[in-house]
Amino acid sequence: MLNNLNIVVLAAGQGKRMKSALPKVLHPIAGSPMLHRVLDTARALKPSAICVVYGHGGEQVRAKTNDDKLLWAKQEPQLGTGHAVQQALPHLSSDGVALILYGDVPLISANTLAALVAAARADKLAWLTMTVANADGLGRILRDQKNHVQAIVEHKDATDAQRQIKEINTGFLACPVAWLAHWLPKLKNANAQGEYYLTDILAMAVAEGRAVETHSPAAEWEITGINSKDQLAQLERIYQLEIAKRLMAEGTSLADPARIDVRGTLTCGDGTICDVAIDVNCIFEGKVHLAPNVKIGANCILKDCSIGESTEILPFTSIDSATIGKGARIGPYARIRPDTTLADNTHIGNFVEVKASSVGVGSKANHLSYIGDTTIGENVNVGAGTITCNYDGANKHRTVIEDNVHIGSDVQLVAPVIIGKGATIGAGTTVWKDAPPAALTLNRKEQTTLTNWQRPTKLKSK
Ligand code: UD1
Ligand code: MG
Repeated sequence: MLNNLNIVVLAAGQGKRMKSALPKVLHPIAGSPMLHRVLDTARALKPSAICVVYGHGGEQVRAKTNDDKLLWAKQEPQLGTGHAVQQALPHLSSDGVALILYGDVPLISANTLAALVAAARADKLAWLTMTVANADGLGRILRDQKNHVQAIVEHKDATDAQRQIKEINTGFLACPVAWLAHWLPKLKNANAQGEYYLTDILAMAVAEGRAVETHSPAAEWEITGINSKDQLAQLERIYQLEIAKRLMAEGTSLADPARIDVRGTLTCGDGTICDVAIDVNCIFEGKVHLAPNVKIGANCILKDCSIGESTEILPFTSIDSATIGKGARIGPYARIRPDTTLADNTHIGNFVEVKASSVGVGSKANHLSYIGDTTIGENVNVGAGTITCNYDGANKHRTVIEDNVHIGSDVQLVAPVIIGKGATIGAGTTVWKDAPPAALTLNRKEQTTLTNWQRPTKLKSK
């Protein structure tokens, strides 16, 4: 039994058809670079080593992939998939098992790979193949009359009869590292593309009488590789639909499963009860948790946040890096920015921006406000048009609004400033000194009426 697993990720291809300065494997699917998805799946298999074979744009790939434990093998020039794996060979432990993955096949599942690894640990060459409707351009699996796999022939090298075969090579395989070390140096490049084909090791295994086993993935999208923006967009939609199906299976109501985008991890409900409802065109980024009975209106963008039970997020609301309690009502058109905590039963209304602030239980800011760097206590009412003036042009300052404060409309709170417990601030006041508790603070402004004043009239044009 070979325990130690060595994963090789091929990522040296240029990806010319993406027409991009960004290396192909860094293009995102469901919010993270394709290569990072593959690496996450690789890590889920608990390997002892992961080696990425890189080439074109490799420095950018390395810089954007922060993992000290990764091993990197440069392939230059790129002489084929067999040559690519050969570059990784010195990094692999000779008494382990090797698994070959692809940086541009982002959605392969850990379950599918685990089956290949298990077979390789039992001293077999395990190869992932699939019967597909359109095999164009792909390597075909050749079998004998007894249906035993014999070899792989690339589309460009195949005869017309072989091109009728619908069982294709996905590229994924696993086997003892020692076998790779034995076969790879024997590869020849006498083929239509003048490349060292990794696929040729299958015929070598058969010739040597080694045990060869084929497996198939549960779904075709697992083995779909990306070469163009069109393919990337199609795979994105397929994957989003899979996420939508999972959410619905867990009890989430989606107004339209084709109109949700999860670019990270979205969890809904508490595992038993869900009753979360999400309207159309919402985007979830990073890590988002929606507690039972949360309702999300149309066109909301939620990033790295957690929303408490029975809270309602109304349409066109944007939330980034915030924690929101139970029974709250946020939006429509609210903007909740990083480092914000909104306690239970808070109301944040339309065109209200909240940044780096905490809002206590039952407090409300319902209309047209900016609340930045502020601590708001419980049962506070912030009137329409209230602005915290937190920035003096050089530094940010905090505003503290204690429990049961009532702030009238159109108030400016010039930070640093403290509004004492139970204070009332008159409408239109500019508060630039601390306001004492339980009293009314206001700026006295005289109201005068000019009775003999006349509205200007429009001048007649000549
Ligand atoms: C390869 C397979 C083919 C299979 C298909 C599935 C071979 C010879 N052929 O064909 O049987 O059906 O994938 O998509 O293996 N790469 C390198 N270095 C190289 C060449 C390729 O790292 O020198 C990497 C690419 O970045 C890519 C992968 O290997 O991730 C496959 O390369 P690609 O050129 O797409 O192979 P195909 O000709 O499509
Ligand atoms: Mg290809």
